[in-house]
Amino acid sequence: MSQVPQLLFKNRRPGETVFIDGYRATGGYQPLEKAFREMTPVELRELVKSSNLRGRGGAGFPTGVKWTFFPADAPGPKYLVCNCDEMEPGTYKDGELLMADPHQLVEGMIVSAYALQTDVGYIFIRYAYEKQAEYLRRAIAEAKEAGYIGKNILGSGFDFELHVHGSAGRYILGEETALLNGLEGQRPNPRLKPPFPATRGLFGQPTTVNNVETIANIPHIISGGAEWFRDLALTPEGSGTKLFGLSGHLNCTECFELPVGIRLGEVVETYGQGVWKNRKFKACLPGGASTPYLTEEHMDVALDFMSLEKVGSRFGTAGVTVFDDQTCMVAATLNLIQFFARESCGWCTPCRDGLSMVRWLLEKFETGKGSPEHLDMLKDQLQNISGNSFCALAEGAMGPVAGLLTHFEQEIIDHIEKGRCPFKS
Ligand SMILES: Cc1cc2nc3c(=O)[nH]c(=O)nc-3n(C[C@H](O)[C@H](O)[C@H](O)COP(=O)(O)O)c2cc1C
Ligand code: SF4
Repeated sequence: MSQVPQLLFKNRRPGETVFIDGYRATGGYQPLEKAFREMTPVELRELVKSSNLRGRGGAGFPTGVKWTFFPADAPGPKYLVCNCDEMEPGTYKDGELLMADPHQLVEGMIVSAYALQTDVGYIFIRYAYEKQAEYLRRAIAEAKEAGYIGKNILGSGFDFELHVHGSAGRYILGEETALLNGLEGQRPNPRLKPPFPATRGLFGQPTTVNNVETIANIPHIISGGAEWFRDLALTPEGSGTKLFGLSGHLNCTECFELPVGIRLGEVVETYGQGVWKNRKFKACLPGGASTPYLTEEHMDVALDFMSLEKVGSRFGTAGVTVFDDQTCMVAATLNLIQFFARESCGWCTPCRDGLSMVRWLLEKFETGKGSPEHLDMLKDQLQNISGNSFCALAEGAMGPVAGLLTHFEQEIIDHIEKGRCPFKS
């Protein structure tokens, strides 16, 4: 374990939080000094592009490419928003990062703002992350005191202010345009895209939204360089390390920083220390609740964006939730759909009505009242919802349902034929 390079968790110690002295002692704020003294905003944006960093918030969009869409030279207010809503079940990595080392995000926000020439930044944080918000506020005050935030940072002529804003506490607030509405004090329905936030975002001004882990990687890319960052991954398509939040039926459910491209089997056996209670592995969600299941046959699959797409799943947030062989996958999927249906904002029909219908169908199977017609209806719903919703919430919600139908259809049939859940005595 000790050989795995630790960037984001470099300063992580059980029960401790590092503030400015500890952060500086291990090289903190040197990348910022380098960026402000030696690099132009254009050079910074080019560096991030060639590092091949992909967004860590779930969709995996290349960060440098996203930044090239941003009108950094346009006059008027421009915003950088950090998404720390983190409400997807099975995803807790950003909260862990901020508990350990909040200055990483603060430094990342300042250098990213310089690269994009945004004058104000917001960190939009999950309502339940009270400690993390407190630590961030302290880190921002310390950075201000040190001259890294405010007017004319390090004599560069660049001004930047950074604020922490608490979320109202619904999953949809993590969707970037709903988040912007929430930040403006509006009802958090997602916005129509285009226009994309890069041209018309917060308060109608150019805005970039990035995830906590994405932003926290930027100082490391500045110190190590683009090639070093790309080489950290174990597969040619990947780049960097990734925070893997393990949960479910494992002996060890912690968050680890591991190379992008690590095999699923190694995550389960080495870091998760195997399936609990001497049971067998049945399935896992590889990247949070909105990703299709993997099974035993996928143990050799590399965990990176492209490899997972090739096997019909997604890397998502790398929140790996494992299910043992005594798990009813119908019940597990019902549990996930109950969350997604409840969190639908109700704006569009495929999601508002479709997810309730999927929940109703899964309840039918689980309570032994399902029929073959219900199974056909479930397949119809998968077709009707996928690709037809206003935002990605419903599409994501159908990830585990698609996985259920691909890998565990027989389990649904068993529920129908037995007239009860076969996993309950
Ligand atoms: C329903 C929903 C919830 C989301 N929740 C989060 C979240 O909590 N954190 C996050 O960074 N991205 C979340 N996203 C993705 C964001 O819309 C956006 O893609 C991301 O913040 C961009 O940052 P990145 O490019 O650095 O990954 C969510 C998307 C959807 C559809
Ligand atoms: S997909 Fe769901 S959450 Fe997204 S806009 Fe439609 S109803 Fe709202």
